[in-house]
Amino acid sequence: MTLRSVGILGTGKYVPDRVLTNADLEKMVDTNDEWIVSRTGMKERRIAAPDQATSDLAFHAAQAALRSAGITAEQLDLIIVATITPDMAFPSTACILQDRLGAKKAAAFDLSAACSGFIYGLATANNFIATGMYEYVLVIGADCLSRITDYTDRNTCVLFGDGAGAAVLGAVPEGRGFRSFELGADGSGGELLNLKGGGSRMPASIESVEGRNHYIYMAGSEVFKFAVRIMGNAAEEALKKAGMTKEDINLLIPHQANNRIIQASLSRLNLPEEKCMINLPKYANTSAASIPLALAEAAEEGRMREGDCVVLVGFGGGLTWGASVIIW
Ligand code: ACO
Repeated sequence: MTLRSVGILGTGKYVPDRVLTNADLEKMVDTNDEWIVSRTGMKERRIAAPDQATSDLAFHAAQAALRSAGITAEQLDLIIVATITPDMAFPSTACILQDRLGAKKAAAFDLSAACSGFIYGLATANNFIATGMYEYVLVIGADCLSRITDYTDRNTCVLFGDGAGAAVLGAVPEGRGFRSFELGADGSGGELLNLKGGGSRMPASIESVEGRNHYIYMAGSEVFKFAVRIMGNAAEEALKKAGMTKEDINLLIPHQANNRIIQASLSRLNLPEEKCMINLPKYANTSAASIPLALAEAAEEGRMREGDCVVLVGFGGGLTWGASVIIW
């Protein structure tokens, strides 16, 4: 079977209007701007309005991506929503979005790989299009982490924000588009980063709420060490699979979890900061939305030219990781 080349035809993003600054957080927990900026690089983050759910953020990002790709929702064959904060347990957020977009012929499903979800989604979509099964696939990373963040816990509440980013994928000329994917998981690290309540192991109950089990739990410094190691490894593996080296990179788009993790990845890849997309001062860590938000902003800012080598790389709960090399 001849495989088609697949690429990104359009990108879009959406963030809610409400801004939560470091100064706001100083009034909520025992923290300060200096600590947050020096440990993470974050200055503010966006918070969804009370009547906004993940599908609402995803909807606006999807519309922008469809406009940018120049196709209509009716042309979509598949919608993949990467999220760990679906509107509800079921139906999937992708099905809710399919209805709202009017994407009548599209199949739809959610994908759970935390902050690596968008790259997992791109790899899945790539394979459907490469084999000729589908023409157009919409991949979205969207999360409302504010709904699962404990705003009495200073260890985690400064880190997260809400947002959505989207990409429309389709066939592209030979030699362009996705050149490789590197996906991985280490389920033994699941206890380092999780949300215990609300699933079949611990259904919601008065006890689960009183035990604060419906919020993100994170062993911060363990996750930090894992992230520093895996970001460089995953990017280098993806480059190797693409037959390229770190010298070929024109733009790195990393998961926006912590500026110190990003800086460690840059030194590992021997890249200057100008070759890296960093928007975490504005949005903090938006989980599955982080990489597509940065990708959409990089596109808006004209940071990728035709033929550029763009590397996406991320890690997240699971533990999971993913990287992809794209010729823009
Ligand atoms: N303000 C002030 N002090 C704080 C804050 C805060 N917001 N948070 C923690 N501290 C304190 C701690 O209590 C600790 O105090 P102690 O020494 O008296 O106990 C001290 O600061 C140092 O804490 P550390 O955990 O050692 O700080 P570290 O340098 O590791 O930075 C951080 C913490 C930013 C969380 C870092 O570990 C990190 O970025 N980890 C990775 C996070 C990440 O990428 N998570 C991915 C989640 S994505 C997903 O899947 C949802």
